[in-house]
Amino acid sequence: MTKTGTRRWHFISSRRVWASPLLRWAGSKRKLLPHLLASIPETFNRYVEPFAGSGCLFFALRPKHAVLGDINHELIDAYEVIRRHPRRVSRAVACLGTEKQTYYELRSADPTSLAAIDRAARFVYLNRHCFNGVYRINRAGAFNVPRGTRTGQVPTERQFYRCSVALRSAELRPVGYRDCLSDLCGGDFIYLDPPYASRRRNTFGEYGYDCFDEEQLPDLFSLLHLIDRIGATFLLSYCQHAAFAELPARWHKSTLTVRRHVAGFAHHRRTVRELLVSNCPLLHSQSPQK
Ligand SMILES: C[S@@+](CC[C@H](N)C(=O)[O-])C[C@H]1O[C@@H](n2cnc3c(N)ncnc32)[C@H](O)[C@@H]1O
Repeated sequence: MTKTGTRRWHFISSRRVWASPLLRWAGSKRKLLPHLLASIPETFNRYVEPFAGSGCLFFALRPKHAVLGDINHELIDAYEVIRRHPRRVSRAVACLGTEKQTYYELRSADPTSLAAIDRAARFVYLNRHCFNGVYRINRAGAFNVPRGTRTGQVPTERQFYRCSVALRSAELRPVGYRDCLSDLCGGDFIYLDPPYASRRRNTFGEYGYDCFDEEQLPDLFSLLHLIDRIGATFLLSYCQHAAFAELPARWHKSTLTVRRHVAGFAHHRRTVRELLVSNCPLLHSQSPQK
């Protein structure tokens, strides 16, 4: 570990993680958390995460000022409601049974017809009981993930409360990454975790049909250059991809080997190589070429 990384990791682990993600999320970076925590700058003014998902780095860090964005407006809406009414949402979730029928009835409900508390409770319930925390919609925009066999427990009232406290420091933006990053400033720290390249995702509506795909990598790279120019720091996680060869050699890259589910199947895992890129030094960084 670099000296900076060691210090930050000890600081975070000595505080213990006070709030953890409320949601299960396909593509969550829980396994990479020690590497991510060791790779963030010592100081920054504002934390910005435009592909927030379950926000595992955000909840571990609990920054004083943050922007969390995601194109999934149902997700951001759930965070908004939980922030304001953690106990009411928790109780609404706890009232729902665990039967298969309850899951499919809730799944078929139109969220726009529900009051805010019920809408957030439905979102959390489906997330905790669906197949592997996958978020997938059909062409009409309706959530269509089947119920999982090993369904997750619902979060406790204390977990809802802590999530709400952590979210008080965050501005929540239900927008695409470009709009989320429209007011970047020097001194910001931006953590980018876009969906990795996958044909399956585009075909089946995982993360939604307007989800980021690999054709947008050049656009994302142009944003990295902008972030670097204005004096902000970025950390990007992605799967290994040939396009990364075109990034400036002075940026830091680190390759990690992680065991992941294949296509969301818990019994089918494989080892994948993931990449961290940053304009500040990384844990186990490959030395930038001069
Ligand atoms: C790999 S997940 C992020 C996981 C997150 N780091 C965590 O720990 O849970 C990618 C997220 O990007 C969101 N997303 C997909 N396309 C997007 C876009 N064009 N703009 C903003 N968010 C997008 C998805 O809804 C999803 O929540």
